[in-house]
Amino acid sequence: MSTATRPSFELRPSPSPMPDGERAARMENPGFGRVFTEHMVLMRYAEGRGWHDGVLQPYGPLSMDPASSVLHYGQAIFEGFKAYHQTGGGVATFRPFENARRFNASARRLAMPELPEELFVEAADLLVRQDRAWVPAEPGCSLYLRPLMIASEAALGVRPSQEYLFLLLASPAGAYFQGGVRPVTVWVTEDYVRAAPGGTGSAKCAGNYAASLLAQRQALERGCDQVVWLDALERRFVEEMGGMNIYFVFEEGGRTVLRTPQLTGTLLPGITRASLLELARDLGIDAGEFRLSVEEWGQALAEGRMTEAFACGTAAVITPIGTVKGRQGTWTVNGGETGPVATRLREALLQLQHGSAPDRHGWMHRVC
Ligand code: PLP
Ligand code: COI
Repeated sequence: MSTATRPSFELRPSPSPMPDGERAARMENPGFGRVFTEHMVLMRYAEGRGWHDGVLQPYGPLSMDPASSVLHYGQAIFEGFKAYHQTGGGVATFRPFENARRFNASARRLAMPELPEELFVEAADLLVRQDRAWVPAEPGCSLYLRPLMIASEAALGVRPSQEYLFLLLASPAGAYFQGGVRPVTVWVTEDYVRAAPGGTGSAKCAGNYAASLLAQRQALERGCDQVVWLDALERRFVEEMGGMNIYFVFEEGGRTVLRTPQLTGTLLPGITRASLLELARDLGIDAGEFRLSVEEWGQALAEGRMTEAFACGTAAVITPIGTVKGRQGTWTVNGGETGPVATRLREALLQLQHGSAPDRHGWMHRVC
């Protein structure tokens, strides 16, 4: 671990801020992850020296040694969380310390150094304050924050790098899926798996996403928006989706029951997933974890017991699942329409995040 005293970030903002009109044009219909703000944060790590040279500087390309080990062996992790315009004015982020903790859990799994949680959050606060004008005010929009860490030592030996680079980018974001908030069609893949026991499924590492792209392409070729992953051992149990967790709604004896696949070590422990368990309980909904096989999914739909399914995540917020395709055929959920539970939870979550509902759990972190 680092023996260095706590570094501070040097502020080196752009001497020529972007004119308001140009920024406004870039922020129009931002979609997801296509537009970046004017600044970024960098910090370096070296074995024996710890974290150092933290700086906020203009957004721009990096210069890297082609032997940097991330380019060869993929030691790379990332996070995603958002800053929201608050109804009463100001900007706040949602549970950033949870992302800091998960970042460090990912770091441990990839044999990378941890970053003190306060530094992670301080970096985000600085960037949001600097680029505050880039936080969209439109409903359903926010500033997506993307922290990442890569192995930067120039060395081809297969071992943990002794140098790392932490980066933080910010990107104004609207809906994750093209077409806005509408029920999506998902492809249940039985050809590929995302994560096996003992693997990196619960870490947010770049390799997990690289390995998912072929299945995602297969999904698109079949007219689907996203892949649903099954467990690696039996290829039966529903785990999660490409970049989001999954929830199911059942009607049991007049009661609404909300269930999400349990964290077996192969799923990413989503912060939205965890928050929805609590928010749903606040709303009086019976919410919990379970295991669901593809056969049971079909049965529950056929018997009318499953009334809704939806995906959740920072980027996707809550996105209803309207159609399920796979080797088992094609199923429709709730007539392909957005259901009342997904709508209610989505509204409750967004109201909380935008400061128009009370923050009972102390989840919002005021930035400016
Ligand atoms: N599962 C995967 C594979 C993800 O990439 C994400 C997104 O971060 C999630 C789930 C949802 O996690 P969170 O709610 O923390 O954004
Ligand atoms: C997020 O929701 O933050 C994600 O990381 C999902 C995806 C864009 C990878």
